[in-house]
Amino acid sequence: MKRISRIIILAIITLSVVSCQNETTGPNKDNEVIKTIMARRSVRQYKDTPIDHETMDLILKCGINAPSGTNAQPWEIRVVDNQELLAEMSEKMLAEFDDSRMAQVKSLPGYRNMFRNATTVVFIANNGNLGRLDCGLLGENMILAAQSLGIGSCCLGGPINFFRTDAGKPYLDKLNFSADYTLLYAIGFGYPDESPEAKPRDESKIKYIE
Ligand SMILES: Cc1cc2nc3c(=O)[nH]c(=O)nc-3n(C[C@H](O)[C@H](O)[C@H](O)COP(=O)(O)O)c2cc1C
Repeated sequence: MKRISRIIILAIITLSVVSCQNETTGPNKDNEVIKTIMARRSVRQYKDTPIDHETMDLILKCGINAPSGTNAQPWEIRVVDNQELLAEMSEKMLAEFDDSRMAQVKSLPGYRNMFRNATTVVFIANNGNLGRLDCGLLGENMILAAQSLGIGSCCLGGPINFFRTDAGKPYLDKLNFSADYTLLYAIGFGYPDESPEAKPRDESKIKYIE
């Protein structure tokens, strides 16, 4: 009996020492989530290696685990990793806009398509006028999950304009979003073939209010 009491007392002392240490040292600021967030950059050059569907499914599942207002999940997601389809849409896009900035994108080394060369493109639509914020959170979850798996990404707002044109309409139809959903943005994914430097961030935009 005495021995059991001694073990219990020892366990309590050990636990209090450990908890005191946590209080004094604080949370681990060098953890994997922080590292993943700080290491992410928009990637625009990718290896040919495709992302297999099992890996992509995990990224998508992380996406839909993002918070949404009243858990309405006001998003629809379409995944395209058919390289011919991505190339075909890119050609139509270039023909439609005939603008020098887009032509310059095509002339860059390693050009694959106008979705910033991604091997997998995820198209995200929001419900009516709602859900833009929710769709943003969904996207960042996917981007960070991908980053943690060694997969790069780039948010794509520009290419969405194409789907609003007559030339883009057949492709928007092919994405087959429900009638009350509007294509909002896309995210390109792939195995990175470049390591871009971090762009500057303006920390003066953060203020504590007393
Ligand atoms: C809503 C949104 C739309 C974007 N659209 C494009 C785009 O069409 N093409 C592109 O190359 N990058 C696009 N980007 C990527 C930004 O240029 C990039 O996030 C920004 O320059 C900061 O760089 P970083 O992501 O490497 O930190 C977009 C980003 C966001 C959030």
